[in-house]
Amino acid sequence: MKTSLGFFVAALVASSAGLFAVSLLSAAETTTTTTTKAPANPWFKPPLRASYEEGQFVYERNCVICHGRTGKGDGDLVQNWPIRPRNFTQAVFKYRSTPYGKLPSNADLERTIRQGVSGTPMPTFNTILRDSEIKAVIEYIKTFSPDWRNPDNFAGPITIPETPAWFMEPKDRAEHAAEGKKLFLAICLPCHGEQGDGNGPAAATLKDNFGQPIHPADLRQPLRSGAGPQDTWRTIAVGINGTPMVGFNGAIPPDNLWNLVAYIDSIRLPQPKML
Ligand code: HEC
Ligand code: HEC
Repeated sequence: MKTSLGFFVAALVASSAGLFAVSLLSAAETTTTTTTKAPANPWFKPPLRASYEEGQFVYERNCVICHGRTGKGDGDLVQNWPIRPRNFTQAVFKYRSTPYGKLPSNADLERTIRQGVSGTPMPTFNTILRDSEIKAVIEYIKTFSPDWRNPDNFAGPITIPETPAWFMEPKDRAEHAAEGKKLFLAICLPCHGEQGDGNGPAAATLKDNFGQPIHPADLRQPLRSGAGPQDTWRTIAVGINGTPMVGFNGAIPPDNLWNLVAYIDSIRLPQPKML
């Protein structure tokens, strides 16, 4: 009973209907014997027990060397890398399709594990792990943080539109990029800089959620969040958890987000800089 009430309370809070939820909550406290069920958060995906052993097996053979036995990102291979392996005990995931501040979907984790993270030591496991192994290791990394057991931390993915047809036409794309540039100089420049190289006037002052200095991305390099135009659109829309890069979904209309994607695409350097 205790667990189901906890779940009920959390699901109500997740409904983000502030006052309404609070009044329902007190009603629920006095009527715990009724059979009314709280609307469960359909996106709640706690770790699957059935995958634990296979997941642990996959993790210890492929991930432990960087992410560490207890998931803290302190594996034996890790040296003074400028980019640390993710600390899974903090449950802060950067590359998502879910709103800023929420846990990633299974599909988001799968994308990262299959594709790796460009320009960082996070390798691609696409041809190395079987589908079932990827699914199992995803469940296993969820066991490192209790955040994965709280329905409040889950939300559905945002809808990512198809890449517009003009993106494939160099002339049209250049026109959209010029529009995107205006927006970029107005909104993104303070952090990413006039050239998009990450050296904006506010760059040196930025801190992540753990109080560590964080540098805005050099957007001329291959992006860590993925190589395709939809990956860039998604990242600008939902932001990067744990960092001052918040999501612009809602604040910038979807079409204008595509103009920004075209602009970022236009400033990419022909040769990526090595770490
Ligand atoms: C050679 C080192 C290395 C190995 C091996 C490795 N990782 Fe990583 N991983 C990293 C680094 C470094 C990052 C941080 C990348 C960044 O911050 O952009 C990372 C990040 C991640 C993330 C975070 C993605 C996000 O959205 O924040 C996940 C999930 C992940 N790794 C899963 C795995 C799994 C699962 C395995 C094993 C199948 C694995 N990694 C093996 C180095 C490694
Ligand atoms: C308050 C500062 C700030 C503002 C404003 C900001 N960003 Fe960022 N952005 C960052 C930081 C910091 C990172 C790097 C996060 C990290 O290292 O994980 C980042 C990362 C990104 C990335 C991901 C890069 C990658 O490798 O995947 C994209 C894309 C991006 N920003 C685009 C934009 C766009 C477009 C705008 C304007 C609409 C914008 N940002 C506004 C701070 C900012």
